[in-house]
Amino acid sequence: MPVSRPRFTNKTVIFLAASAVALLVAYLFWSLVPEVHQLLERRMSDNPAASADTIIGVIKLALLAVVGYLLVRALNFVFFGLAFRLKRIDAPTLIRNIFTIIAFTIFFLIAFTFIFPKVNLGALFTTSALFGVILGLALQDTLGNLFAGISLQADRPFQVGDVITVGAQRHTGVVEEISWRAIKIRTFTNHVVLIANSNAAKEPIEVCPRENQNARLVFFNALYTDSPAKTIHVIREAVRGADNVSERVTPIVRIRNLAEDGVDYEVKYWLEDYAKYNDTDALVRQRIWYAFRRAGLNFAYPTRTLYVERPGRIAMRDGDGGAIVERLSAVDLFAPLSVEETGTLAQAAVRHVFAPGELVIRAGDPGSSMFVVHNGRVQVQVNENGRPRTVATLNEGDFFGEMALFTGEPRTANVLALEETEVLEIGHAAMKRIFDNNPDLVESLSFIMAERRQGLASQADPEAATANTKAGILSSIKRFFGI
Ligand code: CMP
Repeated sequence: MPVSRPRFTNKTVIFLAASAVALLVAYLFWSLVPEVHQLLERRMSDNPAASADTIIGVIKLALLAVVGYLLVRALNFVFFGLAFRLKRIDAPTLIRNIFTIIAFTIFFLIAFTFIFPKVNLGALFTTSALFGVILGLALQDTLGNLFAGISLQADRPFQVGDVITVGAQRHTGVVEEISWRAIKIRTFTNHVVLIANSNAAKEPIEVCPRENQNARLVFFNALYTDSPAKTIHVIREAVRGADNVSERVTPIVRIRNLAEDGVDYEVKYWLEDYAKYNDTDALVRQRIWYAFRRAGLNFAYPTRTLYVERPGRIAMRDGDGGAIVERLSAVDLFAPLSVEETGTLAQAAVRHVFAPGELVIRAGDPGSSMFVVHNGRVQVQVNENGRPRTVATLNEGDFFGEMALFTGEPRTANVLALEETEVLEIGHAAMKRIFDNNPDLVESLSFIMAERRQGLASQADPEAATANTKAGILSSIKRFFGI
C-alpha cells in the first residue's frame, strides 16, 4: 500500500483556526488580569491576594501551554517540511514526536519559571523522592517503548513500505508507521495491527524490504509417469511470464520429494512487489494448472496405482515394440539385418531414460553393452589436460558404447545426455547372435570404430590415431567374440 505524505489539507485550516482562537483567548485574559484579580480577591476569605495570584498564574500557564503546543507543532511542520522540500529527507514520525516533546518541555519550563519565579523547580524535582518513584512507575512502559522505538530508528532494520512478520503470532503486513509507541502494520486483510516497540524489540522480525528481490515458494506435485525434465521446463516457462514475477531472475523449479502419491515439486520465484505475494502465488498456481493441461501432465491425487509388470524388459511394454523395431531398423549398422533379426534385437533391448546432464557412460568403466539413441541427444567427451573436449554429438538413431562391447576394453569416453534422453541398451549375448548370423557386420563395424578412434585420439598425439587401424580392430573384435 503506498504511503503518501499528508498534503495541505483541512487539518492545516483547523490548526490555523485553533491557533487564532488560542492567541485571542490568551490576549483577552492578559488584558483582563486586573479585573479577574479583583474578582477573585473579593471572593476569597483568607490571604486573598496570594490565592488569586496562584489561580491567575495557573490559568496563565495553561494558556501558555496551549499556545506553546501550537507553536511547537508549527515549528515541527516548518522545520521537517522544509527538510523534505529542500533535501528530500523524510523524517520518521518518532523523530518528529521526540522533537515535539523536547521543545514543548523546554517551552513549558521557561513559561513556568517566568510565571512562578519564586518556585525552585530544580529543588522540587530533586527533593521529591516520592514524585520520582511515581513518575518512574507511571512511565515504565512508555519509556520502554520510547527507547525501543529510538533503537529501531537508529538500527533501521526495516522502513515504511517494507513487509514484515512479527513474533510468535506471525503478524504479517506492510509497515505504515513507526511511532514513539508502536509499529503500525496493515495486514493483507486490510486490518491495522499495532505492535508496541518494546514487544517488537524482544520478538524475531522477518523483514522483506521493498527494494529487495524477495522470493516465494509455491508447491505442486505430478505423477511419477510424467518426466521431471519436461515438467520442470514447462512450469519454469509458464511462471516466468506471470504478472509481478521478476524478469531479472529466472524462476527455479525443483523436486522436493519423491512422495508416496507422486513427485513433489517447488517453484521458487522472485517478486517485483512483495506486498502482492498472495495474488502472485495464486496466479502462479493458475499458470501451473493451465501449463499442465497444455503439456498433458497430471497432478498426483492421493491414490495408489498398482502396476503389474515383468521386471527388466521395459522396451516390450504393449505398444512400444513397434517403435523400437522401427528405431533399430533405421540404424545404419543394422541395415543388413532381416526383419526377424531386427525383431529379436528389439526383444533384447532394454530402454533407459537419462536426465539432462546425466552420464550414460563413464570413461574407464568396464562395459558389455552398446546403446542406440531412441529420443534426445548425447555428447561424447574425452578428458584432455583436465578439461573436457567434445568429440561428437549423437542424435536419434545413432549408436555408442560399441567399443567396449566389441573389444572388451574399458569405455574410451564419457557420454553425457544433453537433454532428457531415452536409449536402447543391447547386451553382449544379443550382439553375438547377430554376428554369428551376419559375419559381414563385423567389417562395417570395425570401419566405424576405426574412424571414431581417430576422433578420440589426442590432438597432441596424432601417432596414437594411426595405431588403431581398421585391421587391428577387426581382429580384436573377432578374437573377443570368438568368430
Ligand atoms: P565405448 O568406448 O564403449 O564408450 C564411449 C563411447 O563413445 C565409445 O564406445 C563410442 O561409442 C563413443 N565414441 C567415442 N569416440 C567417438 C567419436 N569420435 N564419434 C562418435 N562416438 C564416439
